[in-house]
Amino acid sequence: MRVSQWSDMFAGPYGLIYDYSIEREWLMRAVGRAVWGIDMSALYASMEVIGRVTDGATILDVPCGGGVAFRALRPDQDVRYIAADLSEEMLGRARRRATQQSLSRVEFAVADMRALPFADEQADLFLSYNGLHMLEDPERAVTEIARCLKPGGELVGTSLLAEGSWQQRALIGIGRRRGFPVPPSRRDLRRWLAAAGIAEPVIEPDHGLAVFRGHKEQTED
Ligand SMILES: C[S@@+](CC[C@H](N)C(=O)[O-])C[C@H]1O[C@@H](n2cnc3c(N)ncnc32)[C@H](O)[C@@H]1O
Repeated sequence: MRVSQWSDMFAGPYGLIYDYSIEREWLMRAVGRAVWGIDMSALYASMEVIGRVTDGATILDVPCGGGVAFRALRPDQDVRYIAADLSEEMLGRARRRATQQSLSRVEFAVADMRALPFADEQADLFLSYNGLHMLEDPERAVTEIARCLKPGGELVGTSLLAEGSWQQRALIGIGRRRGFPVPPSRRDLRRWLAAAGIAEPVIEPDHGLAVFRGHKEQTED
């Protein structure tokens, strides 16, 4: 499967700059506002879900990048946490971050969001922060996410939307001309989530960087 230009970029200096910025909420909020015209605060706020999963739960975090979501994970939390990404470089950063935060139980895996190496119905919580807008074929990743969720399991993630500020639309336009993928529209993202079995998905706000969340439908016995 062909990876997008974004995927290649994270293996290089861009990944280093991105990781430095995303780890500093104040900086990312300022960059988001000034450069993209977006509000990044909902990303960080949404991570509180990690702290309230039940003991024994399995959490999949794909793409984990440098491990930004680890901030919400307690070292003594009784969960199985699997952090996966396509980039070995980003996984290396995530490993170092886990060590710094004494998160010795986090497991790591190389994985393509579009063909996840995980069993069906494995996850109680699936985190997917800032990954879908990296892809040429995000619908495929949405299907994979839903496959890996247990019935009733929860999905929380973020994605840039096609709808946004004039800065965001201008940047997306420049990216498109250079061969980068165009982020999904809110309508498409909702449709893909619902088709994959995420019941009544919520996507807020309706522009900029949106948090999407929902639960996988329970199967009838
Ligand atoms: C914008 S970063 C997001 C990382 C992290 N979740 C965050 O919010 O900081 C995008 C990540 O997606 C990864 N990535 C790109 N294409 C991927 C793919 N097809 N499968 C898995 N990860 C991918 C990149 O390596 C990068 O770490």
